[in-house]
Amino acid sequence: MRSANSSEGTRRGLPPHAPDRAGSGRAAPDRAGCEGGAQSTLNGATLNGATSFGSLAAMETRAARVLPRAVRDNLNGAAGAERTAQWNETDFDRLALVPRIFRDVRRRSVSTMLLGREAALPLALSPVAFASLFHPQGDVAAASASRKTGAPYCASLMSNASIEEMASVGGEGVWFELFSCGPQDFIAPLLDRIRAAGCDTLVIAGGLSAPGLRPRDAQNRFALGGAAARAAFLYHNLPDLVAHPRWLYNILMRTKRITLPNIAPPGETDASLDRRFDYLRREILAGATTWDDVRRLRDAWAGKLVVKGVMTPDDALEAAALGADAVIVSNYGGRQLDGVASSISALPAIADALAGRAAAILLDGGVRSGRDVVKAIALGADGCMVGRPWCRALASGGEPALVEMASIFRTEIDNAMALIGVSEIGDIDRRFCRLA
Ligand SMILES: Cc1cc2nc3c(=O)[nH]c(=O)nc-3n(C[C@H](O)[C@H](O)[C@H](O)COP(=O)(O)O)c2cc1C
Repeated sequence: MRSANSSEGTRRGLPPHAPDRAGSGRAAPDRAGCEGGAQSTLNGATLNGATSFGSLAAMETRAARVLPRAVRDNLNGAAGAERTAQWNETDFDRLALVPRIFRDVRRRSVSTMLLGREAALPLALSPVAFASLFHPQGDVAAASASRKTGAPYCASLMSNASIEEMASVGGEGVWFELFSCGPQDFIAPLLDRIRAAGCDTLVIAGGLSAPGLRPRDAQNRFALGGAAARAAFLYHNLPDLVAHPRWLYNILMRTKRITLPNIAPPGETDASLDRRFDYLRREILAGATTWDDVRRLRDAWAGKLVVKGVMTPDDALEAAALGADAVIVSNYGGRQLDGVASSISALPAIADALAGRAAAILLDGGVRSGRDVVKAIALGADGCMVGRPWCRALASGGEPALVEMASIFRTEIDNAMALIGVSEIGDIDRRFCRLA
């Protein structure tokens, strides 16, 4: 958990965004896993002969090659002019780690407590809709990798595998995400399923009351719901889809039917994909959820409750006051509303507001290396989550690549800790990070 002195440090918080920010516009690949040679082992085990990429950048390159343009753009793109997505990354570049010397760092540990459980590293996988588009094993590979690496996997309400299947392969490391608190006749049976599957961590996402407007998706006619929209998507992208025969083969032959098994309109367990989409749009994402509903959800759910989408101290305090076990500082990777501040710039004020409270803090958006994780922890996070990096790993090499991705993060976190002079995650505080 956050070190007790995490709010006392000498470091300044990031200032609000200025349009002339230094470094903005730097492309994502430059930041991803730049060492290139991070050791491909996890807990001493090698990767059983599977392709080893060596860096997140190599995974990103491979993913860009195997995915058709429309899927790649959906993964890499964001809302509007994609400024927030850029800021998420470039604001990490505006932070410098501050090394201390001559400290005994022979016995280091990157393990930490996340939501009451020991986690092998301070990292978890963010929820992602339709992961089957990236690899036939999709969410199941992510859940399984999570058990192997000790980095929890938060399954999206729009995952393509059922909560039962994911929990059976991923165990207690699988969390589940709801998009809203209603309608009750949908939520109550789903909570029963989540509980029965053995999943005890529920994430409630705030800030999804309207879809993100993503120009790349519009341009590519990216759409999965509705027969007419799907036909337009296929027609528009056919040449590029055909130019990716392996992806096409995987989707047509190896991927189980792409559906939304966790979105069952009440009384309609056999509902079609379109019916599920329709129900999602009309009933679940209607924008009706309020803090009162989240309070009722807290009462109805005995397990851990995490509030995602927190970007202000006031919302963090609301979540803590109703008994949330953690908040996720997140702007959804810039995919919802462009022009919102970066997650990392919002973190210091939220950490200050929650100082002394029980709620833990996770952060996602722009985390591309173990050094970014260390910076976020220095600013008050208990751990980080990643979205695009794990999808790129999944697309590039399935479960083994996901395991390698966690290994790269682990190696980088450990290496940064040694070189800034700390032995425990809990010893990382604001003194180790400042504006660059
Ligand atoms: C393809 C894709 C689908 C996503 N689907 C969801 C989702 O279903 N629910 C959700 O809360 N966030 C979703 N997100 C956002 C991620 O959970 C996460 O907040 C974001 O990707 C973090 O930023 P990063 O990609 O820079 O790591 C999605 C992100 C991507 C890239």
